[in-house]
Amino acid sequence: MARKLSKRAKGVLADRKRRMQWWHKARFGMFVHWGLYSILGRHEWVQNIEQIPIGEYEQLAAKFKPKPNCMREWAKLAKKAGMKYMVMTTKHHEGYCLWDSDVTDYCAGRTGPGRDLVAEYVAAARAEGLKVGFYYSLMDWHHPDGYRCATSEPARRRFVDYTHALVKELMTKFGKIDILWYDVAHPLPDAKAWESAKMNRMVRKLQPDIVLNDRSLIPEDFGTPEESIVAEGEGRAWEACMTFNGSWGFMDTPAEDWHSAREVVRMLHQVTQQGGNLLLNVGPHADGTLPAIAHERLKRVGRWLDVYGKKMVYGLRPRTPGGILGSLAVADWTAKGKTAYAWVRNWPGTEFGIGRWKGKVKSVKLLGPKGATRLKFKQEPRRLVISGLPRTCPDKALGIAILQINCASKPSRGMATHTEAAGHWK
Ligand code: GLC
Repeated sequence: MARKLSKRAKGVLADRKRRMQWWHKARFGMFVHWGLYSILGRHEWVQNIEQIPIGEYEQLAAKFKPKPNCMREWAKLAKKAGMKYMVMTTKHHEGYCLWDSDVTDYCAGRTGPGRDLVAEYVAAARAEGLKVGFYYSLMDWHHPDGYRCATSEPARRRFVDYTHALVKELMTKFGKIDILWYDVAHPLPDAKAWESAKMNRMVRKLQPDIVLNDRSLIPEDFGTPEESIVAEGEGRAWEACMTFNGSWGFMDTPAEDWHSAREVVRMLHQVTQQGGNLLLNVGPHADGTLPAIAHERLKRVGRWLDVYGKKMVYGLRPRTPGGILGSLAVADWTAKGKTAYAWVRNWPGTEFGIGRWKGKVKSVKLLGPKGATRLKFKQEPRRLVISGLPRTCPDKALGIAILQINCASKPSRGMATHTEAAGHWK
């Protein structure tokens, strides 16, 4: 049975399309996990995994001395990489607040850094024209009520008040904020216990254009599949968040453990095809500098997006159900109206056949840095053969080029069976 919506919920829904327009068009954002755990470099869960006593962990705050305005490096790189927004951990599970808080002393303003790192981050992102997101972990390993709130009502009251007060600070101290990205609603059992509806009402009142994720245990504006690119149901916005190298917080892993630039474009293909966004993480060193490999990989992604982003990635576009165009060994598909796009990641050489193609093809073009080149093609009953391709892939950034196939009607291919060798069919 459909749940009856409150007046507030109806209003939020009606306004969603407007608020989320930019978000859908943006497609690609930078996630930044940065906190005291970055000093240890053994994953952002290190305090919990290694069971470091709070008193010992807290002392890291005195050692946290990031370089002034180090966030400019992140924002510049995000822009170069073709990202349109950023989301930074303002408070991760460790409980340390990266801003200068009036609610807690366990914050950057009153410990080692002696600065408001959130304010610096906001300024850096804005300077590059990027939208600004705040990650905020509801779970808190530092606050004395952060665990016992689950079993003691007075503790729950204090902790929820504390949580709402911090969120309120974030929503009032830094100007316009574009995204609030909650995380881990543990240990309270449900949205009622967190008083999430009330909290989000406050957030929307203070930031009428903000976009909220689903981790305050209310679905709100978008879903957040993690470490996998799986679309939510049609009509529901979603954003896949992915680590770059297996850890969200800084960890010095070998180069091979990082996603390649080609893999990042493959992720971008998947989210584009299924109407989602990609929030790709970087974990800066404690001093705020980014690992060189993040620079190297993201710059190459950016070079590719400079050529293909506008046409292939950004903007509102319909989902392309994978089944319609099936899979190919050398390419992946997206489609828009009567046009199919093959993202060719393994260059086929000068000729290329697409089996079981259905419908009339009007033209085939190869898209590259210098624009579009028309290609020859012929249509046989069971395949489309494209010829006159260059010997090697025209894309020198990543070796992924696009073939645009314009059709007389919506493009589609027939079903594959294992036994249908060419010639068996009549
Ligand atoms: C998980 C982890 C956390 C990380 C987050 C990002 O919930 O607990 O460390 O920040 O995923 O999505």
